Amino acid sequence: MTADPRIDTTAVGSGRRSSGDSLAPVLWPSTTYEVDSVDDHRRMTGQPRTERYYSRFGSPTAGDFADAVAELEGAEAGLAFSSGMAAVTATVLGLCQQGDHVVVTRQLFSVSTALFALHCPRFGIDVTFVDGTDAEAIAAAAATRPTQLVFVETPANPTLSLVDIEAVAAIKGPITVVDSTFATPVVQRPLELGIDLVLHSATKGLAGHNDALLGVIAGERDVVDAVWAWNSVMGGTASPFDAWNGIRGIRTMPVRVRQQSATALHLAQFLESHPAVESVSYPFLPSHPQHELATRQMATGGVMVTFVLRGGAAAGRAFCESVALARLALSLGGPESLVSHPATIVGHLTPEERSALGIADGLIRYSVGLEHADDLEADLAQALDKAAAAEGAS
Ligand SMILES: Cc1ncc(COP(=O)(O)O)c(C=O)c1O
Repeated sequence: MTADPRIDTTAVGSGRRSSGDSLAPVLWPSTTYEVDSVDDHRRMTGQPRTERYYSRFGSPTAGDFADAVAELEGAEAGLAFSSGMAAVTATVLGLCQQGDHVVVTRQLFSVSTALFALHCPRFGIDVTFVDGTDAEAIAAAAATRPTQLVFVETPANPTLSLVDIEAVAAIKGPITVVDSTFATPVVQRPLELGIDLVLHSATKGLAGHNDALLGVIAGERDVVDAVWAWNSVMGGTASPFDAWNGIRGIRTMPVRVRQQSATALHLAQFLESHPAVESVSYPFLPSHPQHELATRQMATGGVMVTFVLRGGAAAGRAFCESVALARLALSLGGPESLVSHPATIVGHLTPEERSALGIADGLIRYSVGLEHADDLEADLAQALDKAAAAEGAS
């Protein structure tokens, strides 16, 4: 277990460098800042993570949000982006060049997969995909030739398979990156386990209110600055408004994530006992194939539960359209419980490709919100009945 119990205290007060004596974080919406002399502009040009120059290069509010995440993760520096995907893309293109070799886990958010599988080859970046649950395979792939980056996602979207973070950190040579979106710093702290760079789609549990499209990285200053240099060209900088919502969200993140995790465990146990459910994936259930690893590197099982319905795609679709309290919507980590049917979302993939990603036809992704656990359980029960009826009808 890696979470520092004092994260609650850090979360309440972090990210206030530009807020003066205001207790509420201050929003700096300006795109540009007045300086005293032309030499000031010369000094600021190319200064990493500059904040009062022109806001594509950075802004006080985006800087404060990034600082807050760096503090929570125990990092030297942080950088905020206009989305989680901007963070992923800027990290890869900022740290790699033509001819570089990158090792990536197969169990990834589908758009990250598109970046590595479809776009990296266009830039001459050679990507090897490996099974994220096989720590030795990750190390072996990185040892086949000089490797610039090892990029893993844990817990993985949507199957909740895990990557052994300490084993990845032990790989010498490449820059190691963990996409820790599904965990937040409340659940796991990859840098404390020796990882070089942690990355989040802060759109999810970090900002936590479905009102900010936001990404962030945190790690060693030199690595973060290299990503910043590329991102200021790519233009994927966080908007001050979204970063401001991010700082606001962080203040309650530990309480939210722990409460949502407790409800998630309750619902996972309920689902496991339900006849319409074939299997449940939740890291803190003893039935999770990597349960021991989960309890070693995670403080809670997280806010996500995935499960497979016996009735396949028809049952999955019926379930998603029958929940009354949880909502059928993308995203995760917010106050409202959300469901989605990944097999439909990645319907452009072949059945073989879907199955290689662990996406069964009856798979449901459930982001557990802040509603009362008993209300959510009742809602699940009635939607499962309808899913079972759909199975019978098909
Ligand atoms: C694990 C993971 N990484 C990155 C992203 C991309 O984040 P965004 O939607 O903020 O671009 C997502 C989005 O769902 C995600 O689940």
